[in-house]
Amino acid sequence: MKIAVIGRGNVGGGLADLWEGAGHELQRIGREGGDVSEAEAVVVAVPGGAIAEALANVRGVEGKTVIDATNRVGVEPPEGFSSNAEYVKSRTNGPTAKSFNINFASLYGRIGEASSRPGNLWCGEDEARQDVERLNRDAGYEPVYAGPLENASAQEDFIKLVFGIVQGDMGPFLYRMAPPDRL
Ligand SMILES: NC(=O)c1ccc[n+]([C@@H]2O[C@H](COP(=O)([O-])OP(=O)(O)OC[C@H]3O[C@@H](n4cnc5c(N)ncnc54)[C@H](OP(=O)(O)O)[C@@H]3O)[C@@H](O)[C@H]2O)c1
Repeated sequence: MKIAVIGRGNVGGGLADLWEGAGHELQRIGREGGDVSEAEAVVVAVPGGAIAEALANVRGVEGKTVIDATNRVGVEPPEGFSSNAEYVKSRTNGPTAKSFNINFASLYGRIGEASSRPGNLWCGEDEARQDVERLNRDAGYEPVYAGPLENASAQEDFIKLVFGIVQGDMGPFLYRMAPPDRL
């Protein structure tokens, strides 16, 4: 597939590398923007508060399948929207999904080491299902459907629980997963 990734950081750059390794054709777009009219799917991986600016700098995104990977850490969605993903839908009017926001980019290089494929949540529109599930599998994840696009707000808020788990109980869990003699 031809995939345009907006944001070249940990998530955008990391997913682009994984998908390139799986044989996809990647277009990597930074804050200077660009033209995504050739892309079959567009992934947004910019800071949550930059979603409006990032989309405004991109041409040719209307009607495209877009997967929004942003989290909103300390920021609200654009005014009038309950999630960044629904804001994306309002700008593009194409098939829209939320995914890749509940897994850590720092582990992309270790997905293949898991004893079974790690799950990765996605919610969104049925028209996006084929692409978002394929791109999950081609990154090494098993897609886990979490309902319609209206659930994107809950999926964005879910990151607060993930941070809570990491700051609380994750130490012993990580120790079991990777004891020092295996590091
Ligand atoms: N890190 C994780 O494990 C993780 C996991 C899931 C979801 N997320 C979410 O995914 C998003 C990206 O996270 P990240 O860790 O990849 O952040 P990051 O490493 O800081 O990368 C963000 C990228 O977005 C670019 N950017 C900033 N403003 C932009 C704009 N207006 N237009 C286009 N590009 C713009 C930045 O460009 P410059 O390099 O020029 O600043 C940078 O390349 C965030 O919403 C984050 O909450 C992160």
